[in-house]
Amino acid sequence: MRTLSIIIVLITAVFSCKNSNSSVLKNSQSKSLIVNKAFTEQAEGYKLMKQNCYICHMAQSKEAMIAPPLFRIKEHYLPVYQAKSEFSDAIIKWVLNPLEENSLMPGAIRKFECMPSQAHIPRETLVKIAEYIFDNEMEKPGFFNKMHGNNQQRMRARGGENDPHSKKWKVDDGVIQTMIKLKEMLGSFEGQKVEDFQKLGIDVFSISKKILLNKNNEGEAWDQIHIFFNKIENDMHSLMSVKSIEKGKALTYILQKKINSFDDTFE
Ligand code: HEC
Repeated sequence: MRTLSIIIVLITAVFSCKNSNSSVLKNSQSKSLIVNKAFTEQAEGYKLMKQNCYICHMAQSKEAMIAPPLFRIKEHYLPVYQAKSEFSDAIIKWVLNPLEENSLMPGAIRKFECMPSQAHIPRETLVKIAEYIFDNEMEKPGFFNKMHGNNQQRMRARGGENDPHSKKWKVDDGVIQTMIKLKEMLGSFEGQKVEDFQKLGIDVFSISKKILLNKNNEGEAWDQIHIFFNKIENDMHSLMSVKSIEKGKALTYILQKKINSFDDTFE
């Protein structure tokens, strides 16, 4: 009931804003016409997103979470798909046909299971939703910040050489072997073209994905692996679509450093 009244208030807010905007329109020229059209489209995008995505993507508490909030999704998609059209295409492709191999959020798949296809939603609706997500800041649930803060702290408390009670997390031997391969791959990389750096980003991410989706790691050890990869995923995603060799070199260097630090926390 409370949710319903919140929805009604929000929908009313959207409509009342629209009305007040069109009264401005009566006394002004074409410029406001364009502004008004953009405003209406944006409001529609918001409404459609709420109708079609919030049911799973906007929880009120950590316990009620069944999917990551959309602001986290945007954080993952934007570094890889920087242009609006690419971003929109990637979101639509995912919603119509979610496949693990296209996922940029393997941690979320592990935690919540893969998203069920929403192929019943018409493409025009999805275009409006995806463009709305690209153009606007996504709401951040209040509980989310606190939760992430706690996670980061937990990782620091357990690992790290400055902690007198330091105890490393035991992980599956397959993970250790894969991390060795990853280190070698980064260590021996000699990129000539910007595409080489992008390919390196894709390779590093697809290996990380295998680790995150590996069901041999469970419970707290898996949480810790997830936190570790959370800290490098932005670098991996940025490398996947890097536009200059200089930036590619910088990202490769950062990734190398961070991946080498795996042994500080895990064994
Ligand atoms: C029935 C629940 C449900 C609905 C409805 C839903 N999602 Fe999801 N979505 C999920 C879950 C669960 C995940 C996390 C697991 C995953 O990534 O597959 C997810 C993940 C995603 C991802 C990240 C995919 C990745 O792994 O890279 C995108 C993008 C996404 N959703 C977009 C949307 C959009 C846009 C809508 C509305 C049109 C929507 N979802 C509606 C459940 C849902």
